[in-house]
Amino acid sequence: MCGIVGAIANRNVVPVLVEGLNRLEYRGYDSAGIAVINAADEVRRVRRTGRVAEMAGAAEQEGLTADIGIGHTRWATHGGVTESNAHPHVSFGELALVHNGIIENHEEQRAKLTAQGYVFESQTDTEVIAHLVHSYQKQGMDLLHAVQHAVKELHGAFAIAVISKKEPNRLIAARMGCPLLIGLGENENFIASDVSAILQATRRVIFLEEGDTAEVTREGVVVFDDNDQVIEREVHVSDVSLSSLELGPYKHFMQKEIHEQPRAVADTIEAVVDNNGFGPELFGDGAEEVFANIDRVKILACGTSYYAGLTAKYWIESIADLTCDVEIASEYRYRKVVADPRQLVVTISQSGETLDTMEALKYAKSLGQEQTLSICNVPESAIPRASKLVYYTRAGAEIGVASTKAFTTQLVALFTLACTLAKVKGNLTPEEELGYLEDLRQLPGSVQHALNIEPQIAAWAEKFAPKENALFLGRGVHYPIALEGALKLKEISYIHAEAYPAGELKHGPLALVDESMPVVVIAPNDRLLEKVKSNIQEVRARGGEMFVFADLDSNFTESDHVHVIRAPRHTGVLSPIVHTIPVQLLAYHVSLARGTDVDKPRNLAKAVTVE
Ligand code: F6R
Repeated sequence: MCGIVGAIANRNVVPVLVEGLNRLEYRGYDSAGIAVINAADEVRRVRRTGRVAEMAGAAEQEGLTADIGIGHTRWATHGGVTESNAHPHVSFGELALVHNGIIENHEEQRAKLTAQGYVFESQTDTEVIAHLVHSYQKQGMDLLHAVQHAVKELHGAFAIAVISKKEPNRLIAARMGCPLLIGLGENENFIASDVSAILQATRRVIFLEEGDTAEVTREGVVVFDDNDQVIEREVHVSDVSLSSLELGPYKHFMQKEIHEQPRAVADTIEAVVDNNGFGPELFGDGAEEVFANIDRVKILACGTSYYAGLTAKYWIESIADLTCDVEIASEYRYRKVVADPRQLVVTISQSGETLDTMEALKYAKSLGQEQTLSICNVPESAIPRASKLVYYTRAGAEIGVASTKAFTTQLVALFTLACTLAKVKGNLTPEEELGYLEDLRQLPGSVQHALNIEPQIAAWAEKFAPKENALFLGRGVHYPIALEGALKLKEISYIHAEAYPAGELKHGPLALVDESMPVVVIAPNDRLLEKVKSNIQEVRARGGEMFVFADLDSNFTESDHVHVIRAPRHTGVLSPIVHTIPVQLLAYHVSLARGTDVDKPRNLAKAVTVE
């Protein structure tokens, strides 16, 4: 979603801002802009709808140069995709501001500021912050105090960066509910909503906490807490690699990230393998006590991460013998729930920023549910920081909007959780532990083998590309993988796809099946295989065309209307992870064949920081 970058230096910062906005593109946006204070102490601004490159071209044409500036990529919420709604927003030509998040009381603020004579040029909630800060400056406050006063009047979530021509030697930043960090350089400093935006300049970062404001000059940074008192915040060195932000030999980030999965899985299991067994210490300090004191699990997540949770339910119930409920975070956060202090609340989030998941976690905690664990791919992001325990997946930065390597590494983490809970609860024999460990060790190789079937899947994709609907079927622990396959296909190819547990077909969806309906079936050789085969017959009898992902020895007869691809290896209990690869590849190749924007599907954003 929206992205922020800001810089103050002894050099021209326009290229730094443009580069930063390019790095933020993956989050999803529909307009971009930068504002600077130039050598004549004027606020200059360039905004464009569409791509960052267009805006950067316009900035170059206008000869924009400055040693202080802010930039933004906007994903429209309040007000359409227009240049006047794009950030930065300017107040009286004196102050420029960028904002991520949503201001809930913007209408009330707008009315108040209009009465004071402010004229609004946009439909955004952001413009009220610019005028509000300006109104405090007008009363004689300096920029820092004006921002500190203004943010106390705002309800909602925000990360903001502000510059003012009256004080051309400092940037002011503030956060509440949306991530924001400060990058520390040598006689130059930066602001960003995401470390990738400033990695080209520095790896040393300070993550602002809720309610913090910061004064950023060339010489240094001063952070203030929510009581406006100076506070020391830890300096971190980011380990996000620049190569994870580059395409390398690949055409798309999604393709690259699908192919990175053997490495991502290997990195994520490294701690377990090094530990030579499952142990609570893998989940952080205090995990042993937490795990000993819980007797059920609640998983909260959204989208693909929710499907990882659905898969985990099968593992947690069958391996650890603990009841596990999985719920969509945006639903949980708004219903009356029965609090259970003996429940482990597990949030799953690739980005660690998803607002609904964060709010669901806060809600659970407000009900006294203190035992919380976050499974997350982004160190130091908001959700793990609000959780007692954490397991970081080591997928590396995921840029493609459609989640791939984050999902499979979440599954690895959740499988590790199931085995660890089983061990703590005395439900794992040493032989079982050794067996599961061996399964994990084999996993990167099995994922690599699954990637090798890409040419066959690319051939299937040609048949899929002209279709407008598809069904995905799975049973048991593979049903969530069918859901994930359908989500991937609709997200990036815009083909309408639905997933069902195969046994549900005859209770309704079978009515949809005719010759034009492709049906993808995930059919590994497990104890439900014979049931799945019967379900396939039900589809064949109605003329549906079947695309079956099976195991080596699933014994399917191929025909003109039953196409089968066999996984090259058996993977037992980890089969859902390996069977994810073909559905990802299918979505990718169908999207290629249809010519859609694989990495930036329409209307979607990478980190969903709004409701
Ligand atoms: C789908 C996808 C989304 C995310 C969802 C949650 O490919 O990426 O469905 O899974 O928005 O995001 P995180 O995991 O960052 O909380």
